[in-house]
Amino acid sequence: MDLPEFEVKRLLFAFHKIEYLVDCTMIGKKLRLFFFISLCGLMLAILLATWGIPKIVRSQIQKNVQIDPSSQMFDKWRKLPMPLTFKVYVFNVTNPEDISAGAKPELEEIGPYVYNEYRERTILGYGENDTVEYTLKKTFVFDQKETSSLSEDDEVTVINFTYMAAMLEVQELMPSLAGMINGALEEMFTNLTDPFLRVKVRDLFFDGIHLNCVGNSALSLVCGKIKSDKPATMRPSEDGNGFYFSMFSHMNLTESGPYQMVRGTKELQELGHIVSYKGKKEMNWRDPYCNQLNGSDATVFPPVEDSPPKRLYSFEPEVCRSLYVNLVGPAAIFDMNAIYYEIAEEALAAKTANRDNKCYCRKNWSANHDGCLLMGVLNLEPCQGAPALATLPHFYLASEELLEYFAGGISPDKEKHNTYVYLDPITGVVLKGARRLQFNIELRQMKGIPQLENVRTGVFPLLWIDEGAELPPEIQQELKQTHSLLGYVEMARWILLSIAILVLLASLFKLARSGALPIWGQHTNSVSFVLSGTGNGNKLQ
Ligand SMILES: *[C@@H]1O[C@H](CO)[C@@H](O)[C@H](O)[C@H]1NC(C)=O
Ligand SMILES: *[C@@H]1O[C@H](CO)[C@@H](O)[C@H](O)[C@H]1NC(C)=O
Ligand SMILES: *[C@@H]1O[C@H](CO)[C@@H](O)[C@H](O)[C@H]1NC(C)=O
Ligand SMILES: *[C@@H]1O[C@H](CO)[C@@H](O)[C@H](O)[C@H]1NC(C)=O
Ligand SMILES: *[C@@H]1O[C@H](CO)[C@@H](O)[C@H](O)[C@H]1NC(C)=O
Ligand SMILES: *[C@@H]1O[C@H](CO)[C@@H](O)[C@H](O)[C@H]1NC(C)=O
Ligand SMILES: *[C@@H]1O[C@H](CO)[C@@H](O)[C@H](O)[C@H]1NC(C)=O
Repeated sequence: MDLPEFEVKRLLFAFHKIEYLVDCTMIGKKLRLFFFISLCGLMLAILLATWGIPKIVRSQIQKNVQIDPSSQMFDKWRKLPMPLTFKVYVFNVTNPEDISAGAKPELEEIGPYVYNEYRERTILGYGENDTVEYTLKKTFVFDQKETSSLSEDDEVTVINFTYMAAMLEVQELMPSLAGMINGALEEMFTNLTDPFLRVKVRDLFFDGIHLNCVGNSALSLVCGKIKSDKPATMRPSEDGNGFYFSMFSHMNLTESGPYQMVRGTKELQELGHIVSYKGKKEMNWRDPYCNQLNGSDATVFPPVEDSPPKRLYSFEPEVCRSLYVNLVGPAAIFDMNAIYYEIAEEALAAKTANRDNKCYCRKNWSANHDGCLLMGVLNLEPCQGAPALATLPHFYLASEELLEYFAGGISPDKEKHNTYVYLDPITGVVLKGARRLQFNIELRQMKGIPQLENVRTGVFPLLWIDEGAELPPEIQQELKQTHSLLGYVEMARWILLSIAILVLLASLFKLARSGALPIWGQHTNSVSFVLSGTGNGNKLQ
């Protein structure tokens, strides 16, 4: 209880005054004792209700959510008790010949191909400043049941990602060599006729598409570039003569990190913050803002009950930056109260709309623009070593201009394409969340390159992923029990206080009834006299 000092004095004074009055009226000792005890009881109850119980509750919550082997959450943190669902939607190109001749692309979204994503952390040690260091291993397992009628053997026609990546890099670094390099690529990719790739989804996602490196000198130039850049999507083949390209195999079973995360044993509000990745506290965007490593890995958050932050940051190693979702407000899910956050336009806004994002720009990406990307497009080149572009699925929240490039198959929809999270405010547990990202590459017209001579320049989507988490029913139940327990504690607090007040009132009533306090009824001034504390204090000492 942190009452101001004078309030305490006043209370004490009033208390003395009452005692004095009681004394004067020669009341029975029992009644006085009863009154005295009930007054002490009320003070104790106030102390407990306003300070003691909340403090105990907070420390219990902290004990259970902090990253410490003694905490309830620890095992769930180390090894997620349920897999995330990793869904992939791929854009099948239905008019490749027409696109090569200059028509607008007509796409067809195919999916979802559903994988279960298991996550396990290996603890490397506990470090300075209340941190834990770990590596993260993800394992992807195809889920045929959820994928239903689709199969990993489906054949799709997609933009030839590696080919476009190679051509874009060549054109930027050494435009005069583009023709020669294209000749080399024609050898690398057998039967190169257009910028599209006919492939089984299995190979595109995980198994890999073989790229041959044995051939002329131009080919070794391209392969040398791949060897030195080491894009995550290129896996050297066993015989050392080439590479396998696939979108996700580097994520399967490879340990990522190490990450350093705040454990929240000291400062609970810092729980889950990633302070370093691969030993670095900053990214290398060559800009102090974009270099900041902010937020958690989107699976752990501190409790947000008292004042939910306006933005919730998460660090995304795939795009080498922190992204954020904005506070929308309270919501209900699984019969529980939650706080709802959603991605906002400003997170991926173009430099013109959000100056902060200027460092994510890419110079001269297209002849039509000032060197910076359009609204809603994130350049992954500095991060992944390949000129990939990330957006939200179907260019949701991105510039309308991007949509004009297509004849069909692209239709942004908030419900399907946003990124969001529902948090339990009391524990910070993620009740439900989805993280969605689309990978694109520029299809650029290049004179003198037969495959690209007539195409329209634009941002061409390859596929998008929907990584979703949902608290399984058993853990929902556990959480609900915790909530009801806290509800009882809250109720107990008020019951305690009410009882103490009632008892005090009863004792006062008894005192008054016994005629011990006649003075109260007679002098209308007496109460204010007693409480104002301006009376004759000497009498009391
Ligand atoms: C993708 O489109 C091609 C035509 O470009 C078609 O032959 C193929 O069946 C489509 N794939 C799927 C899985 O629908
Ligand atoms: C711990 O925090 C202090 C002060 O913020 C900082 O100077 C120091 O580098 C940190 N140590 C580690 C290992 O991060
Ligand atoms: C991931 O790797 C494991 C072990 O090699 C393998 O069993 C699994 O099929 C792989 N997942 C995918 C989707 O290829
Ligand atoms: C390349 O095209 C030729 C003729 O069109 C064909 O015989 C050959 O099988 C093709 N090679 C591959 C790898 O598709
Ligand atoms: C794309 O790659 C595949 C497989 O390597 C090849 O068959 C196709 O011809 C390639 N097309 C282009 C334009 O690179
Ligand atoms: C990181 O967080 C700080 C404070 O929360 C914020 O001011 C800053 O803009 C964030 N930086 C990035 C890159 O998101
Ligand atoms: C970008 O393009 C502009 C105009 O097309 C040109 O003047 C400038 O030199 C280019 N910058 C780079 C780094 O290529």
